[in-house]
Amino acid sequence: MSKSLAGKTALVTGGSRGIGRSTAERLAAEGALVALTYNAGKDGAEETVATIEKDGGNAFALHADLVDAESIPHLFTRLDDEFTQRKGVRTLDLLVNNAGNSGWGGLADTTPDSWDTMFAVHARAPFFIVQSALSRLADGGRIINVSSGAASRPMQAVPVYSMAKAGINNLTHALAMELGPRGITVNAVAPGWVRTDMNAAVRENADMAAAIEADTALGRFGEVSDIASVVAFLASNEGRWVTAQVIEASGGYKL
Ligand SMILES: NC(=O)c1ccc[n+]([C@@H]2O[C@H](COP(=O)([O-])OP(=O)(O)OC[C@H]3O[C@@H](n4cnc5c(N)ncnc54)[C@H](OP(=O)(O)O)[C@@H]3O)[C@@H](O)[C@H]2O)c1
Repeated sequence: MSKSLAGKTALVTGGSRGIGRSTAERLAAEGALVALTYNAGKDGAEETVATIEKDGGNAFALHADLVDAESIPHLFTRLDDEFTQRKGVRTLDLLVNNAGNSGWGGLADTTPDSWDTMFAVHARAPFFIVQSALSRLADGGRIINVSSGAASRPMQAVPVYSMAKAGINNLTHALAMELGPRGITVNAVAPGWVRTDMNAAVRENADMAAAIEADTALGRFGEVSDIASVVAFLASNEGRWVTAQVIEASGGYKL
């Protein structure tokens, strides 16, 4: 059977762990050549590439600390080189803005520096990654932003994170209008609670974990593959008529 993303190229930020890793593996399994980024997790990024290659896919890893705005032009220079070496052209078909730093810290604890760091990765980086990607993105391509249910149901424990994710939903809509004439779809996937490092501390608290499961219609935490499946749908030809949407993938959290 032919693979749904055969011949496509993809960039997945934050592919060393969690949702990004699962997404990179899934897009590669569908036939895309996947560039994945990492920050502190070089080993995780290399493991992701090795897993993809073991399964017959193609991928490579690039370092980018997205707190640093300068990392983005540098990332794209290296991306151009790698795609050109491997495919003969620098064209990017699928962009997944996924990287995220965890953001526990309420109103009282937040400092201007911690606010800036959170916004740098969750809001500023996706904006400037798209700006850099524009000249490389294929007409008919895809931009998929990993948002959060917290964007529309702000969480008291993570006000800055919630604000940054609301910004991503807003940007998704604006970009869909801007890029529609080129046939590029722009959507956000908003996970609920997914079993990753980002909320390991929450899951260690049995009462909190039970409360979250009780508040979820499907009665469990999400798995990373639950989110990667939605990204893969939006990336595929099956998702071609969906744009400007925030698709919640939460198992029905707080219905
Ligand atoms: N897990 C959830 O319940 C949940 C719910 C809603 C939304 N989300 C969203 O889903 C996305 C992925 O989260 P996750 O749960 O998979 O998190 P995770 O397991 O903690 O992984 C985070 C990823 O982001 C990368 N990253 C962190 N700081 C970075 C920086 N400064 N520069 C570049 N990359 C950086 C990490 O890279 P290194 O490891 O290499 O440092 C890692 O690959 C995030 O946007 C998050 O907000 C998650």
